[in-house]
Amino acid sequence: DDALEHIERLRHGETLTTERASAVLGLHRTGRLADYQLSSWLATIAARGLRFTETVALTRAYLGPARRGARIRRSGRTVVDKHSTGGIGDKTTLVVVPLVAALGVRVCKLSGRGLGIAGGTIDKLESVPGLRLEFTEAELAARLAADDVVIGSFSGELVPGDTATYDLRSVSGCVRSAPLIAASIVSKKVAVDADAVVFDVRYGAGSLVPDHGTARRLAGLLVRLGGEFGLRCRAVLSDGSVPLGRAVGNAAEVDEAVEFLRGSGDRGLAAECEALAVQMVRVAEPDEPEGRIRERLRSAVDSGAALSMFVRMLTAQGGDTGPVLDGGGYCRPGARTAVLARGAGWVTDVSALGIGRAALKLGAGKVFADDVIDPHAGIRLTRHLGERVAEGDVLAEVFHRDGLDSGEAVELVAGAVRVGPRENCRVPREPEPVS
Ligand code: URA
Repeated sequence: DDALEHIERLRHGETLTTERASAVLGLHRTGRLADYQLSSWLATIAARGLRFTETVALTRAYLGPARRGARIRRSGRTVVDKHSTGGIGDKTTLVVVPLVAALGVRVCKLSGRGLGIAGGTIDKLESVPGLRLEFTEAELAARLAADDVVIGSFSGELVPGDTATYDLRSVSGCVRSAPLIAASIVSKKVAVDADAVVFDVRYGAGSLVPDHGTARRLAGLLVRLGGEFGLRCRAVLSDGSVPLGRAVGNAAEVDEAVEFLRGSGDRGLAAECEALAVQMVRVAEPDEPEGRIRERLRSAVDSGAALSMFVRMLTAQGGDTGPVLDGGGYCRPGARTAVLARGAGWVTDVSALGIGRAALKLGAGKVFADDVIDPHAGIRLTRHLGERVAEGDVLAEVFHRDGLDSGEAVELVAGAVRVGPRENCRVPREPEPVS
């Protein structure tokens, strides 16, 4: 099999089938196709686009022969999953998975690492010492049977195609292609044999999806593709042009999720988490009225049930829960630098893109495949959109390794948090459920 032939023919319009995609992935798996050649194949897909039937074929190929059509053996209640296309400060998984599980909904969540500029849930959770995130198929099923909730990372066993391509896409400019995003996400949901999925499609500079119209189309593709594999799907469109919550960076985001589960959440983060959690419960319990779901979600936070579920999940997966229980948090950076306001007024805008770039400079994500992430690196906004600022106030703190020159990151943050007259404050769009 000539790998380069596959790439050339795809580039010149040949239809992508499961067999052809599987052949390329198989050549890569057996060492007969280099990473840069697989990147070229992915870039061809990203540039050319795929028809719907080709996207279905790619998704099947991602699953690999063992998982295609196989089912994780389990019985009982509906298993729900959620997946975000990614954005700056998006720690919704860390909040909504234990929150929804605290309401008795079974959640099996297969997550990814950072993609492009956006952080990934697995990188965030790796800042919890000892936490185990890689499970075999049998272990995932056992975790789910024991605790009704599990978060794991995808692996070569579960989704070989997504595993082979995910990190390469991240560092080769192939993260924004709709068919690649859809195949990557849906293959993971099929691999864990979810019954239902809620997709969070974030849009705006700093997200993988540039605008509302593109997000609507991608949501349509995800829902249709999921339906093709028998999943009941819903989607929420969310404005990702402003960072979600106040923390950006791996350990800092885990800490913010914990604060949220304790009941002291940022408003934007609360709106987003509630929208997603409501949809997740609705797919599992279609007869439950929405008002009642919202009440149950609030009482799960107020009673501490959601936080207990988070602690239980970490414990079951071997993670150190001390920083949650003693309130000290996981984020322990070597150094902190304050970013001060250079004028007075209100925060009129916070650019997710600028904050995301600053986080990368600090070491919170990868620019090259072999970069090492600093789990403690990141940014905490002390002032967020619509809040009042006096000259010299601390707008944000940047966290980094001792000895790292944070000058560029500080300038990026200072440029990202805009201060001006109150009437100029941007109003982000509310999360919007679509089906
Ligand atoms: N999340 C994924 O798992 N894959 C993508 O392509 C985008 C977000």
